[in-house]
Amino acid sequence: MDINAIINEFSSRFGKNPEHIFFCPGRVNLIGEHIDYNGGKVMPCAISLGTYLTISKNKDKLLRFHSLNFPETTELHLQESYTKTGKTWFNYPLGMINEIVQEGNTISGLDMLFYGNLPIGAGLSSSASIEVLTGFALNQLFGLKISNKDLALMGKKVENQFIGVNSGIMDQFAVVMGKKDKAILLDCDTLEYEYLPFETGEYILTIINSNKQRILADSKYNERFAECGKALKALKKELNVTHLCDIDLNTFEAHRHVIDDPILQKRALHVISENFRVGEARDALKANDLTSFGKLMYASHQSLKDWYEVSGKELDTIVEFCKTYDDCIGARMTGAGFGGCAIALVKKNKFEDFSSKITEYYNQRIGYNPEVFASEIGDGVKELSN
Ligand code: GLA
Repeated sequence: MDINAIINEFSSRFGKNPEHIFFCPGRVNLIGEHIDYNGGKVMPCAISLGTYLTISKNKDKLLRFHSLNFPETTELHLQESYTKTGKTWFNYPLGMINEIVQEGNTISGLDMLFYGNLPIGAGLSSSASIEVLTGFALNQLFGLKISNKDLALMGKKVENQFIGVNSGIMDQFAVVMGKKDKAILLDCDTLEYEYLPFETGEYILTIINSNKQRILADSKYNERFAECGKALKALKKELNVTHLCDIDLNTFEAHRHVIDDPILQKRALHVISENFRVGEARDALKANDLTSFGKLMYASHQSLKDWYEVSGKELDTIVEFCKTYDDCIGARMTGAGFGGCAIALVKKNKFEDFSSKITEYYNQRIGYNPEVFASEIGDGVKELSN
């Protein structure tokens, strides 16, 4: 759907043209999975797919939420605070509006029409995209002077407190700070970051959506979060650390016996080894060594499969095919896992061949098709016009 079609839809629903149009991307994480909430370093980038918001102020003191992706609409009177309703899509923008008014900001009524071209709930941060988009739009419309970093932190708070998922800062940070053709190396403890060149040369960043419904993903995510907390608590008996990612692999090996549950040991092993891999991946990108980078992607997937147990047969089937395909140099699941998407580095001139062969391979084993598409690395949230 193009922007004009979204504007026309806004006009027919609200009887006027939108005053502003905003866009916020989704993200892929290249490496550094499930370590943002363990004080680790991650390497996401914003992609060209994302969420659009056409918006105007109204004088009716009403917040009107419409979407082109979902049939439910709602109309709420302006209030001092808002609460979540069931599992509906508008909880995400509403959570952000709640956060903004809770911080003492005054807003007016708003007519809003959202449209996203990201697969929803597929590990490409559709929720961070809509949260940050709403916050960014209100920041512009009401001159709130919220910094980019604070916008990301507010999005995280919405996810943690309003939605109820204990996620880290990676997704919101990536969709705010994304930069064309750059990966973001983010230290999730200090929020210091740098842009790394992500020049894929003769390769193309390919996204493979497993199309697996992510059932209970939020509760399994919270379970992993809790497991990391328990592993850290045990290690703190012998080590003076704040996060699991403060520990290096040798130190972990020397002290892992203090964790008596073998499952918790596996979780910690993933986190600590993944954080180390991110450092190696940074060096590989800086040296423009995509082959080594690809190997680290495979190693990351293996660790998420065996130690962290967040992959699943669909994502494993995708990565297994990639390993047999000569013109693919690396692949891994991206995001929270439990279904969702994998990413792969595939030779540009083999993309069509890769796409049809992986579709056939996957369909034979899983029973339905994945969706395969090439992705560009894009900029973070922005206003498209005013
Ligand atoms: C989700 C969360 C992120 C991060 C990833 C896993 O996308 O929102 O904070 O934990 O999972 O790396």
